[in-house]
Order: sequence, then C-alpha cells, then structure tokens
Amino acid sequence: MGETLSVESKLTVFDNLAELSEQTQVLVRKAKEAALVAYAKYSDFQVGAAVLLDNDTIIIGNNQENASYPAGLCAERVAFFAAKSQFPESSIKAVAVVAKRGQDDHFKAVTPCGICRQVMAEYEDNQETPIELYMTGSNGKILRSESIENLMPFKFSKTSLSSDNGRASH
Ligand code: THU
Repeated sequence: MGETLSVESKLTVFDNLAELSEQTQVLVRKAKEAALVAYAKYSDFQVGAAVLLDNDTIIIGNNQENASYPAGLCAERVAFFAAKSQFPESSIKAVAVVAKRGQDDHFKAVTPCGICRQVMAEYEDNQETPIELYMTGSNGKILRSESIENLMPFKFSKTSLSSDNGRASH
C-alpha cells in the first residue's frame, strides 16, 4: 500500500461579471473581442485570451489554426508568448479566457488545455507570483483559479530537470 499524495484544486465561482473588479471586466471584454477574430477556420471554435501585465497593459491572443492541424496554436499561448516577447521584464497578473462556437451568438467558459497550462505554469514559476485565471462565457457563472499551479498540480517544471538522488519528487 503506497502513501497517497493528494492536492486540492479549487475554483471560485461568481454569478456575474459585475462581481469582478472593473479591470477584470475589461480583461474579459478584451478576451471576447479577441475570440471574435480568431483564425479558427478548421475547428470553427474561437478562443480568446487576454493577459494583464503588472504595468496594467493588456495583451490579447486568439487561436491560430493551420491546414496542417498540429501547427496551430491555442489562444492562451499566443497571448502569453506575445506578452512575454514584448514585455520580457513584466510579470503577468491575470488572464481571461473565453470560447465560442462559430455559429453561436454566445460565449462559453472553457478551462485551458494541458499544453497551455504547462506554458502558463512556466511563467508563473519564473515570476514567483500567482497568475489569476478567469474562465467565463456570456451567461452563467464565472470561474476563477487563484493560480495556474492550482490547475496544474504535480507539474513538470525546471526543478524536474535537475539531477537529484534518483527518488521521485513532487
Ligand atoms: N484551443 C485554444 O485556443 N485554447 C484551449 O485551451 C483549448 C483549445 C483551440 C485550439 C483549436 O484551434 C480549437 O481551440 C479547437 O480545439
């Protein structure tokens, strides 16, 4: 019988946008604007992300697809890479993510894919301050994760690359 290692993952649920700060509401609006101009002609699934930097700049991204499907990139990574290439010294305070099916007239809340969690976790680790994540649609509840770590327990990170005593670590 092995020892159980367990991690609690929590999301805060809000009933509507008005419960969030003005700045977060702007962030969500920018994510929605970004989703509407996603290049998502193969999946017809439009995703928008808006990143808030510590200097209060907002950088947006959306999914960019390709006829060679795996060459495409998710909205979150487009936004994070754009933000960190333009503002390498800034830290990221928050990110909002929204999605929409092409034919729908409303947005839906989605949680980021695993690869995007990995990418966001890298920057969070590096800056040593949590990145808040807001996931929201047009109707219904807004979900907030207080950090990326919260969605990515037991992650692979720079410490995984170090040589150690050969024991499993966590
Ligand atoms: N997508 C994102 O942009 N972010 C995610 O977190 C999940 C998926 C995109 C990738 C692809 O262009 C489309 O949504 C369908 O998977």
